[in-house]
Amino acid sequence: MHDPAALRLESVTVDFGGLRALNDVSIEINPGEVVGIIGPNGAGKTTLFNVLSGLVTPTSGSLYIGGVKRKWPKVHELNGLGLSRTLQGVGLFSELSVAENLLVGATNSKKPNFLKALLGLYGGSERKLDSGVQRILEELEISDYAQQIASSLPYPISKRVALARALMCDPSTLLLDEPAGGLGAQDIAWLKQFVLNFRIGKSVLLVEHHMDVIMNVCDRIYVLNFGQLIAHGTPAEIRDNPEVITAYLGNGAH
Ligand SMILES: Nc1ncnc2c1ncn2[C@@H]1O[C@H](COP(=O)(O)OP(=O)(O)O)[C@@H](O)[C@H]1O
Ligand SMILES: [Mg+2]
Repeated sequence: MHDPAALRLESVTVDFGGLRALNDVSIEINPGEVVGIIGPNGAGKTTLFNVLSGLVTPTSGSLYIGGVKRKWPKVHELNGLGLSRTLQGVGLFSELSVAENLLVGATNSKKPNFLKALLGLYGGSERKLDSGVQRILEELEISDYAQQIASSLPYPISKRVALARALMCDPSTLLLDEPAGGLGAQDIAWLKQFVLNFRIGKSVLLVEHHMDVIMNVCDRIYVLNFGQLIAHGTPAEIRDNPEVITAYLGNGAH
């Protein structure tokens, strides 16, 4: 028998008022796999991602994690389920330092009092770095920025900090929404290598416009168009799928 999928969505439908953003979509991500979700603008990629991140509750459908049926998670329950995500864009706390942003990721708390108390512990003059924070900053090659305020970071560094923050809870499945968005060739190359290293023993769900990234790092790809799953397969299968090519050309994307 196979190991159960790390993550499985079954027949997920999402309605926003009269708009059906996802229609009967099923996907699964196995341990050790990088799974890509692609599709033209408005296809429902971010909506699918938001369903998995506790930001959108579907009209219908089921979620299985490690073969166990689960309720749709709330945002604060994600880390406990082994899931962690980065959002489209960056979404750091702009007035906090890089290290503080990571600590917020570690606690996954939105309660300001708790946050303040926590940061108070690290806000003293010696600014001792938490060892977990330090390890992840080193792993992502951004230790030099630890004390820098998030709003003053170069864009590619802030994307990397967002990724670092997502790693703080030691997720078994990482959900990345357009991690390559706005990055140059060097940072994209770095990101590809990061994803390939990370997935060893873990899994990644990747929503991405950059075909180059998708084709290079994904084991399997699902293609959405107008909320509908229109194809599913290996990068080579997807590249040659006429329906996929039509969906992209029909929407003016490449
Ligand atoms: N919170 C929302 N309320 C209403 N409509 C939404 C919401 N989020 C997304 N949509 C709509 O759902 C469709 C899919 O959007 P989205 O998932 O963002 O697509 P993608 O990420 O593939 O570009 C679009 O038509 C979009 O306008
Ligand atoms: Mg999107």
